[in-house]
Amino acid sequence: MVRNALKIVTIGGGSSYTPELIEGYIKRKDELPIKEIWLVDIEDGKEKLEIVGDMAKRMVKAAGLDWEVHLTLDRREALKDADFVSTQFRVGLLDARIKDERVPLSHGVLGQETNGAGGMFKAFRTIPVILDIINDMKELCPDAWLVNFTNPAGMVTEAAIKHGGWKKTAGLCNVPIGHKKQAAEKLGIDEDKLFFKFAGINHFHWHRVWDDEGNERTAELIDLIYGPKTEQESHLKNIFDASFHYEQIKDLGLLPCGYHRYYYIEDEMLAHSVEEFEKGETRAQVVKETEARLFELYKDPKLDYKPKELEQRGGTHYSDAACELIASIYNDKRTEMVVSTQNNGTITDLPYDCVVEVSGPVTAHGHEPYNWGNFPPAARGIIQLMKGMEETTIRAAITGDYGAALHAFTINPLVPGGKMAKTLLDELLIAHKEYLPQFSEAITRIE
Ligand code: G6P
Repeated sequence: MVRNALKIVTIGGGSSYTPELIEGYIKRKDELPIKEIWLVDIEDGKEKLEIVGDMAKRMVKAAGLDWEVHLTLDRREALKDADFVSTQFRVGLLDARIKDERVPLSHGVLGQETNGAGGMFKAFRTIPVILDIINDMKELCPDAWLVNFTNPAGMVTEAAIKHGGWKKTAGLCNVPIGHKKQAAEKLGIDEDKLFFKFAGINHFHWHRVWDDEGNERTAELIDLIYGPKTEQESHLKNIFDASFHYEQIKDLGLLPCGYHRYYYIEDEMLAHSVEEFEKGETRAQVVKETEARLFELYKDPKLDYKPKELEQRGGTHYSDAACELIASIYNDKRTEMVVSTQNNGTITDLPYDCVVEVSGPVTAHGHEPYNWGNFPPAARGIIQLMKGMEETTIRAAITGDYGAALHAFTINPLVPGGKMAKTLLDELLIAHKEYLPQFSEAITRIE
């Protein structure tokens, strides 16, 4: 790392989220001596890259900074000598997400772009690409940190660390940030006076909270957030805020994450998603319209700050995670963060070499998770199942093994087993075939 001239690369730089990142870097300008920011995209994303890239340049200029902002379709040129590489790409763009959500819903099954059948297909499309990126990094920037935001973030991070061998990978998500803010607000205590311990896997973690006098406040928060008299909110734009069953959350004694709704109250989430499907308003379709509006705004040559409208996306506070992680590694700040990282025994119920999403300080040598131990049986059972599903999905993504893919589908709690699992798998394989070269043999057989 050149101490005074950082080169930061973002793959998927044409994303509408890029202004979040740029804002985050600008906020940390005194901590990060950035020289170059490289935004990389593919030919199909060129127009978006130019629009959002020009806006990034305006933001940097308006902040009075002399950072170079480079836009390129040449990933290798960007990666050369990079210090940090962040990833936020979507293979197949939003149209692929629309299929991920709509094909399962056409059979009355949740698609869900990260955890459900849709998320598994996003993993199938994305994992080979992240492994390619790592191959380039091995050659062009062997000391760089990989900061992964690409969904399904947990599986993609596990593929990078365990299968790509890139130990300097941190997987990030904005969901824990929202839960921390929610706890602080409900308790009326400053967030930095609270101590949080998160544990689980991406979009499937629980947390506990203590105050600065050593009192655990988890049970009180369960009452305040999920109690019978409370109107529950998901605090994520992309998640319908159906209410958890209070008694069940109380029984577990841990605070759930917003995505647990898909498992604990699956029927209500499904009913809502089916309604959206019938109106032609699945989340991906809504996001496509929001994106189009955002890019119209970004075209305005006078716009040189992140517009409020970006908060319509589910990933708000995204930059707080990515940019703070980078600043914390670079300055050994030891900021306490929730990161997808190698388990190494942090959660005793899960394999040593898998990736888990847990709390701990981010040091110059990476994330140092706090020990969590084991889960109560009601959480242990389902998290082990979810991890087995993730490991099987990753294996299928790498090998293109149809049997492994079917197995992963069958054990995913959001996908019914038997004939339905097979029908969905086959339809999705055909729908996404141009992005699934590893499955070409299986696809030819089923077509
Ligand atoms: C949350 C999740 C992200 C996800 C996003 C979707 O923030 O943590 O993993 O990508 O929501 O938001 P969108 O606006 O794309 O539906």
